[in-house]
Amino acid sequence: MRTHYCGDIREDHLDSEVTLCGWVHRRRDHGGVIFIDLRDRAGLVQVVFDPDREEAFATADRVRNEYVLRITGRVRRRPEGTENPDLGTGQIEVLGLAIELLNAAKTPPFQLDEHENAGEDIRLRHRYIDLRRPEMQERLILRARVTSAMRRILEDDGFLDIETPMLTRATPEGARDYLVPSRTHPGSFFALPQSPQLFKQLLMVSGFDRYYQIVRCFRDEDLRADRQPEFTQLDMEAAFVDEEAVMGAAERMMRALFREVLATELPDPFPRMPYAEAMARFGSDKPDLRIPLELVEVADLVAGVDFKVFSGPANDPRGRVAALRVPAGGELTRKQIDDYTAFVGRYGAKGLAYIKVNDPTAGVDGLQSPIVKFLTPEAVTGILERTGARAGDLIFFGADRASVVSDALGALRVRLGHDLGMVEEGWRPLWVVDFPMFEHDEKDGRLYSLHHPFTSPRAATPAELAEGDPERLLSRAYDMVLNGVELGGGSIRIHDEAMQEAVFGLLGIGHDEARAKFGFLLDALQYGCPPHGGIAFGLDRMVMLMAGADSIREVMAFPKTQTAACLLTQAPAPVEEGQLRELGLRLRRSAADTQ
Ligand code: AMO
Ligand code: AMP
Repeated sequence: MRTHYCGDIREDHLDSEVTLCGWVHRRRDHGGVIFIDLRDRAGLVQVVFDPDREEAFATADRVRNEYVLRITGRVRRRPEGTENPDLGTGQIEVLGLAIELLNAAKTPPFQLDEHENAGEDIRLRHRYIDLRRPEMQERLILRARVTSAMRRILEDDGFLDIETPMLTRATPEGARDYLVPSRTHPGSFFALPQSPQLFKQLLMVSGFDRYYQIVRCFRDEDLRADRQPEFTQLDMEAAFVDEEAVMGAAERMMRALFREVLATELPDPFPRMPYAEAMARFGSDKPDLRIPLELVEVADLVAGVDFKVFSGPANDPRGRVAALRVPAGGELTRKQIDDYTAFVGRYGAKGLAYIKVNDPTAGVDGLQSPIVKFLTPEAVTGILERTGARAGDLIFFGADRASVVSDALGALRVRLGHDLGMVEEGWRPLWVVDFPMFEHDEKDGRLYSLHHPFTSPRAATPAELAEGDPERLLSRAYDMVLNGVELGGGSIRIHDEAMQEAVFGLLGIGHDEARAKFGFLLDALQYGCPPHGGIAFGLDRMVMLMAGADSIREVMAFPKTQTAACLLTQAPAPVEEGQLRELGLRLRRSAADTQ
């Protein structure tokens, strides 16, 4: 139906006749001349209709926004002074010779140019219109370029694309499962995969050696800007590898991808940082290295003071007292400090002590603070020295359980970096390594895997595992972090059945439960399982960063809302009684009760 895409017309096409198809982006009537900006996936082009061509002019006069047209016309240079440098087609326009109305459109629920006023609910309900916005088109086109480049890069590196089941057993990655009832086995359920973890390990047992898959994963968890219930991973696994080999392949892929898609060079190699250092300096296991603010330990300086808020955690092995110096932070107002205090409250912090440093050489008199009076002069001098405080700075403090202090000050650091315009330009990838194997949950007193239960510990044998303190044990896991976003995570896996059972044991999964849930894996480990490891990247997060978007919803064609619903199709939805009966299900409460 057409000869060109609208957005592709350039000066090379001057004087040629073109036929274009697309949507009316805007129609303007300029004293007898009608301008139509015609839009397709490649962009916009301006088409001009003169009244001399009566029939075409009359049709052009009738069209409205979002009508679907086919236009034939001649490409000409725009009159001097009317060029638009912001448009690829800004040097030319098309003189309309013929116009065919392919379809009319109702007035859209929001104007594409004014989508920001529309609210996300309206946009998601009419997502097919929202996706017409040039920005959304660019993002999804970028996404397609990313997956296409990834496939090429990985296949050149010897990775094979193999699919794994969607109807499967629970694959524990720490979230709730989406369950699918079975009709043929009443009372039994499939789980949708939280990741292909166990299948990719089985593929290594089968000898495929290097596997990848761009694969949908499902996790019923609390949603945020960078989490969706249904998301896509670039999943990889390889056999006969160690950490270096997996991290090397992942880095090569990332560098090639950024070079090809964004024409950007990422560092070679990516820097590495132990988990303990990331928590100590940045209060986070996904530090944003673009923000030049760091936490400083001060527990030893305040262990002896009378101020219990500080001395309590300073003397508690699970406690932490840390300071965060904000250069020129002395200008923050009382109101701003109160807002930051409320902000850290969301992370469990009970307060946000601070010292404003007016004159660091004048002792206590040079400081302004609600807490200095509770501290010894030595403690104050020590804090000023260790944080490197200068006149005009402000120092924030966190004192609590170590996890609360890290979460609160880690989040405050990122927030301040953005609020005070301190975020540096560029891409700052890194590997976080040397993760603890387990995390201790204070509430139930149990150990949980920091990565997942199939991650290899830094222990050679089950006996060595049993000897040490499990809370001090490190794992062979690694995370790739980019600009404060956890892009991917992986590990070298356990390939020995006895070791896998021992790790299950520490997690409180006894022999019988392990056999019942993971018997197929434990069996496979006994039939010649090679050493293996891998990684999975959050594709949505990667594209979000590459597109400069704020949320992964902006780089997914049909995302879900914060309450995990699809407004477009109105899913999830009740089903008919007959369908439930066929599945052997009866609802405990009627849908009306739960509303
Ligand atoms: P993990 O659970 O760390 O590891 O997931 C890998 C990456 O997937 C992305 N991700 C998400 N993206 C959007 N929405 C979500 N709800 C979501 N959850 C995770 C993140 C994360 O880094 N099987 C292991 C990988 C392995 O060990 O090889 C796994 O799934 O970017
Ligand atoms: P209070 O003694 O509770 O009035 O607190 C005195 C100062 O210490 C106030 O500025 C509080 O915001 C701050 N503060 C209280 N608890 C903490 C805490 N756990 N960590 C950091 N600062 C705190």
